[in-house]
Amino acid sequence: MASGRTENRPDGARDRTYSLDGDFTVATAEGLLEGDFTVATTPGYVEAEELVDTGEAPAGVADNVFKAAMRVLPSGVVLATTRVDGRPWGLTISACCSISADPPQILISLRSTTISCREIVRSGRFGVSILGVEQKQLAEHGSAVGVAKFIDEFCETGGDCETLGSPMVADALFHLDCAVSATYAVSDHHLIVGLVTGAVAPSASDRRGPLLYFDRRFWSLGSRLE
Ligand SMILES: Cc1cc2nc3c(=O)[nH]c(=O)nc-3n(C[C@H](O)[C@H](O)[C@H](O)COP(=O)(O)O)c2cc1C
Repeated sequence: MASGRTENRPDGARDRTYSLDGDFTVATAEGLLEGDFTVATTPGYVEAEELVDTGEAPAGVADNVFKAAMRVLPSGVVLATTRVDGRPWGLTISACCSISADPPQILISLRSTTISCREIVRSGRFGVSILGVEQKQLAEHGSAVGVAKFIDEFCETGGDCETLGSPMVADALFHLDCAVSATYAVSDHHLIVGLVTGAVAPSASDRRGPLLYFDRRFWSLGSRLE
């Protein structure tokens, strides 16, 4: 397998260069480029669509084994937010993690066929609302299969969120507003890297714990270990 790497230059978020090493194909808005090169983008977006397989791929473990392993890995739950037809829309995901603090970047993984993935890649913006323990109902709404995921009634309006580029869930533990800086198509998912351009912590967040997902169920946080 070829490997790829994207790096931000340390000189700021707006006019960044991504150095991409290895034997793969990169699609940009302008067309297809191949081989080793650097791509300058404004405001900073590059899509690495296809990693060229240069060798024998090892066989993966059985589907049920893989799923059993993932079931015992607990995770937080977030709503990846975007807009569809101008209205707030949110998909429940657990695949969200920190990538780097300087610059502040996170990664989310979305099934490529979802409306959320399509709209986030198209608009170049998304939000991540980290859900609290009493937001299980919203998490279920945002994960209902084949159902529209409009979240108008769950969203904060006015105040800080007026300046955000993404819809923000009211009373989320934290909301991160992001500009897409890179995407990678991997099997049937897109890995989407976002530069965090804004952050809002509602005041009520201090007393509430996170909503967790483990063994295909939602949970609250247990006791702290000494
Ligand atoms: C706790 C939880 C975490 C999930 N994490 C992800 C994820 O990280 N990425 C993803 O694409 N879908 C994830 N899903 C699935 C989506 O929320 C959703 O169920 C799926 O996309 C089907 O909805 P759709 O028919 O509107 O696409 C998760 C679902 C749940 C319940």
